[in-house]
Amino acid sequence: MKIDNDIVLRAARGEVTERSPVWLMRQAGRILPEYRAVRAQLSGFIELVETPDLAAEVTIQPVDILDVDAAIIFSDILVIPQAMGCPYQMIESKGPIFPKTIRNASDLASIHVADPGKDLKFVTDAIRITKQRLNGRVPLIGFAGAPWTIFAYMTEGSGSKTFSVARKILYTDKAFSHQLLDRITESTIAYLKAQIEAGADMVQLFDSWAGILGPEQYAEFSLRYIERICDAITEVPVTVFAKGAFFALPAMRNLNCRTVGLDWHTDIRTAREQIGPGKTLQGNADPCMLYASPEEITRNVASMLEAFSGTPHIANLGHGLYPDTDPEHVKHFIREVKAYKHRV
Ligand code: CP3
Repeated sequence: MKIDNDIVLRAARGEVTERSPVWLMRQAGRILPEYRAVRAQLSGFIELVETPDLAAEVTIQPVDILDVDAAIIFSDILVIPQAMGCPYQMIESKGPIFPKTIRNASDLASIHVADPGKDLKFVTDAIRITKQRLNGRVPLIGFAGAPWTIFAYMTEGSGSKTFSVARKILYTDKAFSHQLLDRITESTIAYLKAQIEAGADMVQLFDSWAGILGPEQYAEFSLRYIERICDAITEVPVTVFAKGAFFALPAMRNLNCRTVGLDWHTDIRTAREQIGPGKTLQGNADPCMLYASPEEITRNVASMLEAFSGTPHIANLGHGLYPDTDPEHVKHFIREVKAYKHRV
Protein backbone atom coordinates (compact mmCIF):
# COMPACT_ATOMS: atom_id res chain seq x y z
CA MET A 1 0.00 0.00 0.00
CA LYS A 2 1.21 3.50 -0.81
CA ILE A 3 1.99 5.60 2.26
CA ASP A 4 0.83 9.22 2.09
CA ASN A 5 3.22 10.63 4.68
CA ASP A 6 6.34 8.48 4.21
CA ILE A 7 8.90 11.04 5.45
CA VAL A 8 10.14 8.76 8.27
CA LEU A 9 10.63 5.89 5.82
CA ARG A 10 12.45 8.08 3.32
CA ALA A 11 14.76 9.35 6.08
CA ALA A 12 15.34 5.78 7.23
CA ARG A 13 16.33 4.86 3.69
CA GLY A 14 19.01 7.56 3.82
CA GLU A 15 17.28 10.55 2.22
CA VAL A 16 17.87 14.08 3.53
CA THR A 17 14.22 15.12 3.79
CA GLU A 18 12.51 18.50 3.19
CA ARG A 19 11.90 18.84 6.95
CA SER A 20 12.84 16.76 10.01
CA PRO A 21 10.57 13.73 10.47
CA VAL A 22 9.47 12.99 14.04
CA TRP A 23 8.01 10.23 16.21
CA LEU A 24 8.61 9.43 19.89
CA MET A 25 9.71 6.30 21.67
CA ARG A 26 6.92 5.13 23.99
CA GLN A 27 4.39 7.44 22.31
CA ALA A 28 1.72 4.73 22.53
CA GLY A 29 0.44 4.54 26.08
CA ARG A 30 2.07 6.21 29.03
CA ILE A 31 1.06 9.86 28.58
CA LEU A 32 -2.35 10.00 26.95
CA PRO A 33 -5.60 10.11 28.99
CA GLU A 34 -7.22 8.51 25.92
CA TYR A 35 -4.88 5.51 26.43
CA ARG A 36 -5.79 5.21 30.11
CA ALA A 37 -9.48 5.24 29.20
CA VAL A 38 -9.01 2.24 26.87
CA ARG A 39 -6.84 0.43 29.42
CA ALA A 40 -9.44 0.95 32.14
CA GLN A 41 -11.86 -1.26 30.18
CA LEU A 42 -9.56 -4.24 30.78
CA SER A 43 -7.90 -6.12 33.63
CA GLY A 44 -4.51 -4.62 32.87
CA PHE A 45 -1.64 -3.96 30.53
CA ILE A 46 -1.09 -7.53 29.33
CA GLU A 47 -4.73 -7.99 28.39
CA LEU A 48 -4.51 -4.80 26.32
CA VAL A 49 -1.35 -6.08 24.57
CA GLU A 50 -3.19 -9.32 23.77
CA THR A 51 -6.40 -7.70 22.48
CA PRO A 52 -5.54 -6.78 18.84
CA ASP A 53 -8.51 -4.51 18.26
CA LEU A 54 -7.70 -2.29 21.26
CA ALA A 55 -3.93 -2.54 20.75
CA ALA A 56 -4.55 -1.13 17.26
CA GLU A 57 -6.67 1.66 18.74
CA VAL A 58 -3.96 2.84 21.17
CA THR A 59 -1.32 2.50 18.44
CA ILE A 60 -3.20 5.03 16.30
CA GLN A 61 -4.00 7.48 19.14
CA PRO A 62 -0.63 9.31 18.97
CA VAL A 63 -1.00 9.71 15.20
CA ASP A 64 -4.40 11.39 15.71
CA ILE A 65 -3.61 13.31 18.89
CA LEU A 66 0.11 14.14 18.73
CA ASP A 67 0.44 14.31 14.93
CA VAL A 68 3.61 12.17 14.77
CA ASP A 69 4.96 10.99 11.40
CA ALA A 70 4.91 7.26 12.29
CA ALA A 71 2.99 4.81 14.46
CA ILE A 72 4.72 2.18 16.62
CA ILE A 73 2.75 -0.97 17.34
CA PHE A 74 1.46 -1.13 20.92
CA SER A 75 3.06 -4.17 22.52
CA ASP A 76 6.03 -4.86 24.77
CA ILE A 77 9.52 -6.29 24.35
CA LEU A 78 8.61 -8.90 27.00
CA VAL A 79 6.24 -10.83 24.74
CA ILE A 80 9.34 -12.66 23.46
CA PRO A 81 10.26 -14.33 26.78
CA GLN A 82 6.58 -15.20 27.18
CA ALA A 83 6.45 -16.76 23.70
CA MET A 84 9.56 -18.78 24.60
CA GLY A 85 7.87 -20.26 27.69
CA CYS A 86 8.90 -17.69 30.31
CA PRO A 87 5.79 -15.58 31.01
CA TYR A 88 5.83 -12.11 32.57
CA GLN A 89 3.45 -10.23 34.82
CA MET A 90 3.11 -6.45 34.93
CA ILE A 91 2.81 -5.12 38.46
CA GLU A 92 0.97 -1.80 38.59
CA SER A 93 3.34 1.16 39.14
CA LYS A 94 6.28 -1.23 39.68
CA GLY A 95 7.01 -2.95 36.38
CA PRO A 96 7.51 -6.45 35.04
CA ILE A 97 8.31 -9.61 36.98
CA PHE A 98 8.99 -13.18 35.84
CA PRO A 99 7.74 -15.89 38.22
CA LYS A 100 10.17 -18.32 36.54
CA THR A 101 13.72 -17.20 35.71
CA ILE A 102 16.13 -18.83 33.24
CA ARG A 103 19.55 -19.07 34.91
CA ASN A 104 21.17 -22.40 33.97
CA ALA A 105 21.17 -25.29 31.53
CA SER A 106 18.27 -27.09 33.22
CA ASP A 107 16.09 -23.96 33.08
CA LEU A 108 17.00 -23.71 29.42
CA ALA A 109 15.40 -27.10 28.79
CA SER A 110 12.04 -25.61 29.80
CA ILE A 111 11.98 -22.96 27.05
CA HIS A 112 11.86 -23.07 23.27
CA VAL A 113 12.44 -20.89 20.21
CA ALA A 114 9.26 -18.82 19.77
CA ASP A 115 6.89 -19.73 16.98
CA PRO A 116 5.33 -16.34 16.08
CA GLY A 117 2.47 -17.91 14.12
CA LYS A 118 1.36 -19.65 17.30
CA ASP A 119 2.69 -17.70 20.27
CA LEU A 120 2.60 -14.11 18.98
CA LYS A 121 -0.45 -14.06 16.77
CA PHE A 122 -1.99 -11.27 18.86
CA VAL A 123 0.85 -8.97 17.73
CA THR A 124 0.61 -9.82 14.04
CA ASP A 125 -3.19 -9.49 14.22
CA ALA A 126 -2.81 -6.06 15.86
CA ILE A 127 -0.41 -5.05 13.07
CA ARG A 128 -2.86 -6.15 10.36
CA ILE A 129 -5.74 -4.24 11.95
CA THR A 130 -3.57 -1.15 12.52
CA LYS A 131 -2.37 -1.13 8.90
CA GLN A 132 -5.95 -1.37 7.70
CA ARG A 133 -7.13 1.48 9.91
CA LEU A 134 -4.12 3.68 9.20
CA ASN A 135 -5.03 3.28 5.56
CA GLY A 136 -1.64 4.55 4.42
CA ARG A 137 -1.53 7.73 6.56
CA VAL A 138 1.91 7.05 8.11
CA PRO A 139 4.26 4.05 8.29
CA LEU A 140 3.94 1.50 11.09
CA ILE A 141 7.04 0.61 13.10
CA GLY A 142 7.45 -2.92 14.48
CA PHE A 143 9.91 -3.64 17.28
CA ALA A 144 11.62 -6.14 19.55
CA GLY A 145 14.05 -6.03 22.43
CA ALA A 146 17.69 -6.71 21.60
CA PRO A 147 18.80 -10.16 22.80
CA TRP A 148 20.96 -8.84 25.65
CA THR A 149 18.11 -6.75 27.10
CA ILE A 150 15.73 -9.74 26.90
CA PHE A 151 18.42 -11.97 28.48
CA ALA A 152 18.73 -9.43 31.31
CA TYR A 153 14.99 -9.69 32.15
CA MET A 154 14.80 -13.49 31.75
CA THR A 155 17.76 -14.14 34.07
CA GLU A 156 17.17 -11.35 36.60
CA GLY A 157 13.42 -11.97 36.80
CA SER A 158 12.49 -8.28 37.09
CA GLY A 159 13.79 -4.82 36.39
CA SER A 160 16.89 -3.82 38.34
CA LYS A 161 19.25 -0.87 38.70
CA THR A 162 22.35 -3.03 38.27
CA PHE A 163 21.11 -6.31 36.71
CA SER A 164 23.85 -7.95 38.78
CA VAL A 165 22.32 -11.43 38.50
CA ALA A 166 22.28 -11.16 34.71
CA ARG A 167 25.82 -9.78 34.60
CA LYS A 168 27.11 -12.37 37.09
CA ILE A 169 25.93 -15.13 34.74
CA LEU A 170 27.91 -13.61 31.84
CA TYR A 171 31.06 -14.14 33.96
CA THR A 172 30.21 -17.49 35.55
CA ASP A 173 28.49 -19.40 32.74
CA LYS A 174 29.53 -18.22 29.32
CA ALA A 175 28.32 -21.34 27.56
CA PHE A 176 24.81 -21.00 29.00
CA SER A 177 24.80 -17.26 28.27
CA HIS A 178 25.52 -17.84 24.61
CA GLN A 179 22.95 -20.65 24.39
CA LEU A 180 20.21 -18.47 25.83
CA LEU A 181 21.22 -15.47 23.69
CA ASP A 182 21.21 -17.73 20.63
CA ARG A 183 17.64 -18.87 21.30
CA ILE A 184 16.44 -15.35 21.96
CA THR A 185 18.09 -14.25 18.70
CA GLU A 186 16.39 -17.00 16.68
CA SER A 187 13.05 -16.13 18.29
CA THR A 188 13.55 -12.43 17.57
CA ILE A 189 14.41 -12.96 13.90
CA ALA A 190 11.29 -15.08 13.39
CA TYR A 191 9.21 -12.53 15.32
CA LEU A 192 10.44 -9.51 13.33
CA LYS A 193 9.89 -11.36 10.05
CA ALA A 194 6.32 -12.13 11.14
CA GLN A 195 5.75 -8.45 12.00
CA ILE A 196 7.06 -7.42 8.58
CA GLU A 197 4.91 -10.01 6.84
CA ALA A 198 1.88 -8.65 8.73
CA GLY A 199 2.65 -5.11 7.51
CA ALA A 200 5.37 -3.43 9.64
CA ASP A 201 7.10 -0.91 7.35
CA MET A 202 10.29 -0.71 9.42
CA VAL A 203 11.53 -2.26 12.68
CA GLN A 204 13.48 -1.10 15.72
CA LEU A 205 15.59 -3.07 18.19
CA PHE A 206 15.55 -1.67 21.74
CA ASP A 207 18.75 -2.47 23.67
CA SER A 208 17.61 -0.61 26.77
CA TRP A 209 20.24 -2.17 29.04
CA ALA A 210 23.22 -1.85 26.66
CA GLY A 211 24.85 0.72 28.92
CA ILE A 212 25.38 -1.58 31.90
CA LEU A 213 27.94 -3.69 29.99
CA GLY A 214 31.56 -2.72 29.37
CA PRO A 215 32.78 -2.46 25.78
CA GLU A 216 34.26 -5.97 25.61
CA GLN A 217 31.22 -7.68 27.04
CA TYR A 218 28.96 -5.56 24.88
CA ALA A 219 30.76 -6.75 21.75
CA GLU A 220 30.58 -10.39 22.84
CA PHE A 221 27.12 -10.64 24.41
CA SER A 222 25.10 -8.00 22.63
CA LEU A 223 26.47 -6.56 19.41
CA ARG A 224 27.26 -9.98 17.97
CA TYR A 225 23.60 -10.98 18.25
CA ILE A 226 22.29 -7.63 17.01
CA GLU A 227 24.53 -8.17 13.99
CA ARG A 228 22.90 -11.54 13.32
CA ILE A 229 19.45 -9.97 13.45
CA CYS A 230 20.45 -7.08 11.17
CA ASP A 231 21.94 -9.54 8.65
CA ALA A 232 18.73 -11.59 8.70
CA ILE A 233 16.25 -8.72 8.31
CA THR A 234 16.65 -7.58 4.72
CA GLU A 235 13.00 -6.73 3.95
CA VAL A 236 12.64 -3.31 5.63
CA PRO A 237 14.91 -0.66 7.22
CA VAL A 238 16.18 -1.63 10.68
CA THR A 239 16.92 0.83 13.53
CA VAL A 240 19.24 -0.12 16.39
CA PHE A 241 18.81 1.85 19.62
CA ALA A 242 21.35 0.87 22.27
CA LYS A 243 20.90 3.07 25.31
CA GLY A 244 24.15 4.02 27.03
CA ALA A 245 26.39 2.24 24.53
CA PHE A 246 28.21 5.33 23.22
CA PHE A 247 31.39 3.19 23.17
CA ALA A 248 29.81 0.92 20.52
CA LEU A 249 29.01 3.68 18.02
CA PRO A 250 32.20 3.21 15.94
CA ALA A 251 31.39 -0.52 15.63
CA MET A 252 27.85 0.26 14.55
CA ARG A 253 29.23 1.87 11.42
CA ASN A 254 29.59 -1.65 9.99
CA LEU A 255 26.24 -2.98 11.20
CA ASN A 256 23.73 -3.99 8.55
CA CYS A 257 21.15 -1.52 9.86
CA ARG A 258 19.87 1.69 8.26
CA THR A 259 19.38 3.85 11.36
CA VAL A 260 21.18 4.20 14.67
CA GLY A 261 19.26 5.63 17.63
CA LEU A 262 21.14 7.99 19.96
CA ASP A 263 20.44 8.65 23.64
CA TRP A 264 20.74 12.16 25.07
CA HIS A 265 24.23 11.54 26.50
CA THR A 266 25.58 11.32 22.99
CA ASP A 267 26.81 14.37 21.10
CA ILE A 268 25.15 14.28 17.67
CA ARG A 269 28.15 15.62 15.71
CA THR A 270 30.55 13.20 17.40
CA ALA A 271 28.18 10.30 16.70
CA ARG A 272 28.01 11.36 13.05
CA GLU A 273 31.82 11.32 12.81
CA GLN A 274 32.00 7.89 14.43
CA ILE A 275 29.22 6.33 12.37
CA GLY A 276 30.09 8.01 9.09
CA PRO A 277 27.77 9.45 6.45
CA GLY A 278 26.16 6.15 5.47
CA LYS A 279 23.48 5.81 8.13
CA THR A 280 20.48 7.75 9.39
CA LEU A 281 20.66 8.96 13.00
CA GLN A 282 17.63 9.08 15.28
CA GLY A 283 17.13 10.87 18.57
CA ASN A 284 18.07 12.33 20.91
CA ALA A 285 16.28 14.88 23.11
CA ASP A 286 16.31 14.26 26.86
CA PRO A 287 12.75 13.14 27.77
CA CYS A 288 13.04 15.40 30.84
CA MET A 289 13.45 18.40 28.54
CA LEU A 290 9.72 18.08 27.83
CA TYR A 291 9.02 19.32 31.36
CA ALA A 292 10.56 22.67 30.36
CA SER A 293 8.67 25.78 29.21
CA PRO A 294 7.56 25.96 25.57
CA GLU A 295 10.32 28.54 24.86
CA GLU A 296 12.96 26.25 26.30
CA ILE A 297 11.59 23.30 24.29
CA THR A 298 11.77 25.40 21.11
CA ARG A 299 15.40 26.32 21.88
CA ASN A 300 16.35 22.67 22.51
CA VAL A 301 14.64 21.49 19.33
CA ALA A 302 16.59 24.08 17.32
CA SER A 303 19.97 23.09 18.72
CA MET A 304 19.25 19.38 18.20
CA LEU A 305 18.08 19.86 14.61
CA GLU A 306 20.96 22.17 13.79
CA ALA A 307 23.37 19.41 14.81
CA PHE A 308 21.58 17.00 12.44
CA SER A 309 21.32 19.50 9.56
CA GLY A 310 22.21 18.30 6.09
CA THR A 311 22.41 14.62 7.11
CA PRO A 312 19.69 11.95 7.15
CA HIS A 313 17.97 11.96 10.54
CA ILE A 314 14.72 11.29 12.38
CA ALA A 315 13.90 13.51 15.36
CA ASN A 316 12.96 11.58 18.49
CA LEU A 317 13.78 11.44 22.18
CA GLY A 318 16.93 9.86 23.58
CA HIS A 319 14.75 7.35 25.48
CA GLY A 320 11.04 6.78 26.00
CA LEU A 321 8.60 9.46 27.14
CA TYR A 322 8.12 9.63 30.91
CA PRO A 323 4.56 8.88 32.05
CA ASP A 324 3.84 12.25 33.67
CA THR A 325 4.81 14.37 30.65
CA ASP A 326 2.19 16.94 29.68
CA PRO A 327 0.77 15.99 26.25
CA GLU A 328 0.61 19.72 25.39
CA HIS A 329 4.38 19.96 25.78
CA VAL A 330 4.79 16.89 23.58
CA LYS A 331 2.59 18.48 20.92
CA HIS A 332 4.68 21.65 21.11
CA PHE A 333 7.88 19.60 20.64
CA ILE A 334 6.42 17.90 17.56
CA ARG A 335 5.14 21.16 16.05
CA GLU A 336 8.51 22.82 16.57
CA VAL A 337 10.39 19.94 14.92
CA LYS A 338 8.08 20.11 11.91
CA ALA A 339 8.34 23.90 11.64
CA TYR A 340 12.13 24.09 11.95
CA LYS A 341 13.76 25.54 8.85
CA HIS A 342 17.07 23.90 8.03
CA ARG A 343 19.68 26.17 6.51
CA VAL A 344 20.56 24.90 3.05
O1 CP3 B 1 6.82 2.89 21.98
C1 CP3 B 1 5.60 2.62 22.20
O2 CP3 B 1 4.82 3.47 22.58
C2 CP3 B 1 5.10 1.22 21.91
C3 CP3 B 1 4.81 0.44 23.06
C4 CP3 B 1 5.94 -0.02 23.96
C5 CP3 B 1 5.71 -0.42 25.31
N1 CP3 B 1 6.87 -0.93 25.80
C6 CP3 B 1 4.42 -0.31 26.01
C7 CP3 B 1 4.42 -0.28 27.50
C8 CP3 B 1 7.30 -0.25 23.69
C9 CP3 B 1 8.12 0.03 22.44
C10 CP3 B 1 7.87 -0.84 24.86
C11 CP3 B 1 9.27 -1.27 24.94
C12 CP3 B 1 9.83 -1.67 26.24
N2 CP3 B 1 9.23 -2.36 27.26
C13 CP3 B 1 11.19 -1.47 26.61
C14 CP3 B 1 12.24 -0.83 25.72
C15 CP3 B 1 12.14 0.66 25.68
C16 CP3 B 1 12.62 1.33 26.94
O3 CP3 B 1 11.82 2.12 27.47
O4 CP3 B 1 13.75 1.13 27.34
C17 CP3 B 1 11.36 -2.00 27.90
C18 CP3 B 1 12.65 -1.99 28.71
C19 CP3 B 1 10.12 -2.58 28.30
C20 CP3 B 1 9.80 -3.32 29.56
C21 CP3 B 1 8.74 -2.66 30.35
N3 CP3 B 1 7.40 -2.58 29.96
C22 CP3 B 1 8.86 -2.02 31.62
C23 CP3 B 1 10.14 -1.90 32.39
C24 CP3 B 1 7.58 -1.55 31.98
C25 CP3 B 1 7.14 -0.88 33.27
C26 CP3 B 1 7.50 0.54 33.33
C27 CP3 B 1 6.97 1.39 32.18
O5 CP3 B 1 5.87 1.94 32.27
O6 CP3 B 1 7.66 1.48 31.18
C28 CP3 B 1 6.70 -1.86 30.91
C29 CP3 B 1 5.25 -1.53 30.84
C30 CP3 B 1 4.75 -0.83 29.65
N4 CP3 B 1 5.10 -1.12 28.35
C31 CP3 B 1 3.80 0.22 29.64
C32 CP3 B 1 3.57 0.56 28.30
C33 CP3 B 1 2.60 1.56 27.75
C34 CP3 B 1 3.12 0.82 30.86
C35 CP3 B 1 2.14 -0.18 31.38
C36 CP3 B 1 0.79 0.37 31.76
O7 CP3 B 1 0.04 0.86 30.92
O8 CP3 B 1 0.52 0.21 32.94
